[in-house]
Amino acid sequence: MYNEILRVQKEVVLCDDGTHTLYSKEFDEPYHSTKDGALHESLEKHVKPSLILKSNQNKLTILDICFGLGYNTFSTLYYIKKNNLKTKIHILSPEFDEALVRSLDTFTFPPEFDSIQHIIKAVSQNLSYEDEQFKVEILLGDARKSILTINEKIDIVYQDAFSPVHNPLLWTYEWFRDVRAICKEDAILTTYSTAAAIRLGLYENDFYIFVHRAEMMRYSTVASLQMLEGLEYIDMELKKIRNSEARSMRDEDF
Ligand SMILES: C[S@@+](CC[C@H](N)C(=O)[O-])C[C@H]1O[C@@H](n2cnc3c(N)ncnc32)[C@H](O)[C@@H]1O
Repeated sequence: MYNEILRVQKEVVLCDDGTHTLYSKEFDEPYHSTKDGALHESLEKHVKPSLILKSNQNKLTILDICFGLGYNTFSTLYYIKKNNLKTKIHILSPEFDEALVRSLDTFTFPPEFDSIQHIIKAVSQNLSYEDEQFKVEILLGDARKSILTINEKIDIVYQDAFSPVHNPLLWTYEWFRDVRAICKEDAILTTYSTAAAIRLGLYENDFYIFVHRAEMMRYSTVASLQMLEGLEYIDMELKKIRNSEARSMRDEDF
């Protein structure tokens, strides 16, 4: 039944890195940049910068916005296993498309995920997974509501919603305010968006803004509640002076 619903609303797309993603007819957008590639994008824009910046911590709580095909969650576990890291990982991931998550045990993931196939199956069947090192929880429903129910404090946010044009309510000042409220004081956030309006929404919620560059990849954004050394810092006050028209997005606009 779940695969039947999927066939109507989504199409499988092959990305340039050889991995598969979906195209959402509802949001008129692919789930990943087909040029950067689903696995490559996930590892380079979210997983690697986050886990490298947090490599001194032995326990991390990650907010994965939103689960989708689960690439960001599964790439995190793949990366940890591949590098033989002992870090304990707890991932909380809002998602309102239950049919999509339930269909993932038959999705064609890359061979890199072979060693975590049992986790993919469990998440797809139970919407959760837990062992001694990893805990994954899908928060079924609207992310704007489920985020208000989270009691844990977050170390890392993967901000990977559909684009601000197609899914604006997951990019507003108020959304980032609610995200910030559950973050630890040294939390970081990764996102593919480099738009001034999005960076302003983060900046107005106390995040410092940095450019993240990776090989064979369009640059992206790392935001942090503490100043970070060694990253390309963006002075948002200067940006505001140079671009006086720029505004963060607000709930009331949509
Ligand atoms: C770009 S995709 C996420 C891709 C995912 N991070 C991955 O790596 O596969 C965006 C996801 O957000 C979900 N979504 C959109 N609006 C939502 C909302 N208000 N609450 C919960 N999920 C939402 C969509 O169903 C979709 O699965």
